Amino acid sequence: MKKLFSVILLAVLVLAAANTAFAAVRIGISMPTQSLQRWNQDGSNMKQRFEAAGYEVDLQYANNNVALQVSQIENMILNGADVLVISAIDGASLGTVLAVAKDEGIPVIAYDRLLMETDAVSYYATFDNYMVGTIQGKYLVEALDLENRTDPVNIEITAGSPDDNNARYFYQGAIDQLMPYIEAGKVVIPSGQIEFEQVATLEWSSERSQARMDNLIAAYYAGGRKLHAVLCSNDSTALGVTNSLIGAGFTKEEFPLITGQDCDVANTKNIITGYQAMSVFKDTRTLAERVVTMVQAIVNGEEPEVNDTETYFNGVFVVPTYLCEPVFADINNYEELLIESGYYTREQLQN
Ligand code: BGC
Repeated sequence: MKKLFSVILLAVLVLAAANTAFAAVRIGISMPTQSLQRWNQDGSNMKQRFEAAGYEVDLQYANNNVALQVSQIENMILNGADVLVISAIDGASLGTVLAVAKDEGIPVIAYDRLLMETDAVSYYATFDNYMVGTIQGKYLVEALDLENRTDPVNIEITAGSPDDNNARYFYQGAIDQLMPYIEAGKVVIPSGQIEFEQVATLEWSSERSQARMDNLIAAYYAGGRKLHAVLCSNDSTALGVTNSLIGAGFTKEEFPLITGQDCDVANTKNIITGYQAMSVFKDTRTLAERVVTMVQAIVNGEEPEVNDTETYFNGVFVVPTYLCEPVFADINNYEELLIESGYYTREQLQN
C-alpha cells in the first residue's frame, strides 16, 4: 500500500514538473477593432505564427472602445499572459493597466501604434510611419508634375485619428513633401484647412471623412472649381472621401488623385477601377513575423533586434523600435505586390 502511494506520488510529481517545464508561453494580443480590414489580418497572422511556434494565444479585439480594451488586457493579465502585444485605440489611455503588467514583470510590445505616456512598454514594432507620408506626398508631387507645371493645383487634406500617435507622422511626412509647393503657390488648398487638428478624422472613420468631404465640396467646389487631389492618410479615410466625390457627381475622367494606405480590398478595387490613385502597402505578414521574432528573443532572455532608438519618444522615454519598410502600390504593381505574393487572391479583388 505504502509502495503504491509512493509510486502515485512520484507520478504526480513527475507530471507536475513536466507541466511546468512544457507549459506553453501565453501571449495576450490586444487589437483595436475588427471594423477595419487590416487589424483582422494583423490579429490572425500573429495568432497563426505564434501558435505555429508553440505559443498559446489569447487574441482580443476591442471594438474601438477604450474601456473594453482596458478590461480585455486586465483579463489577459489575470489569465497568466507572459507577454502582451498591444495595438492601442488611444495610445495614451492604457497607463494604469500597463503599470499592472509592469508590476507583474510582463513585457509589453506596442504593435503598429505606440503606447504613450508610460514606462511599461518594452519595445515598439511598426512600419516607418513618416516614410508612409513621404511616399504619399512624393507621389502627388510627381503625379501632378509640381516641379514643372505653371498653373496651380487645388488639393484638400484628410488625416488620421488624433489619439493615434501614427497619424501625425503620416501627415507630417506628406506635408513636408508638399510644403515647398504650397509656399510657392503651386499647391492651393481652397478650404484653407491645413493644420493637423483641422483635417484629422476621429477613429479613422470613413463616415466622418465622407461627411467632411461633403461639406468641403458644398462650400468650395460647388461652382465647378477643379479639385486635383485629396491627400488621405489611409484607406478608410480615402474610402469616405471617394464615396463623397462619387456621390457629388465627380466622374472617373475628372476624378481627383486620392492617396491611401493599407491596400485594403475595397481600396485596391478602387485602384483597379480608377477611383483611387495609390496606396501604401504594409504587409501585415512582415510585421507579425517581426513581432514573433521579438517575442522569441524576449522569451529566450535575449535582446530583440531594433533598428531605431531615436524617433519614438512616448512622452516618458524613447522606445526601442523596429521599423519595417512600407511600399508604394498602384495600378502598375498591385498584381505583383498583392496577388503574386499571396496576400490576396485574384477573386478577392474582383469588382
Ligand atoms: C495604422 C494604419 C491604419 C490606421 C487606421 C494606423 O495606426 O498604422 O495602417 O490605416 O491606424 O486603422
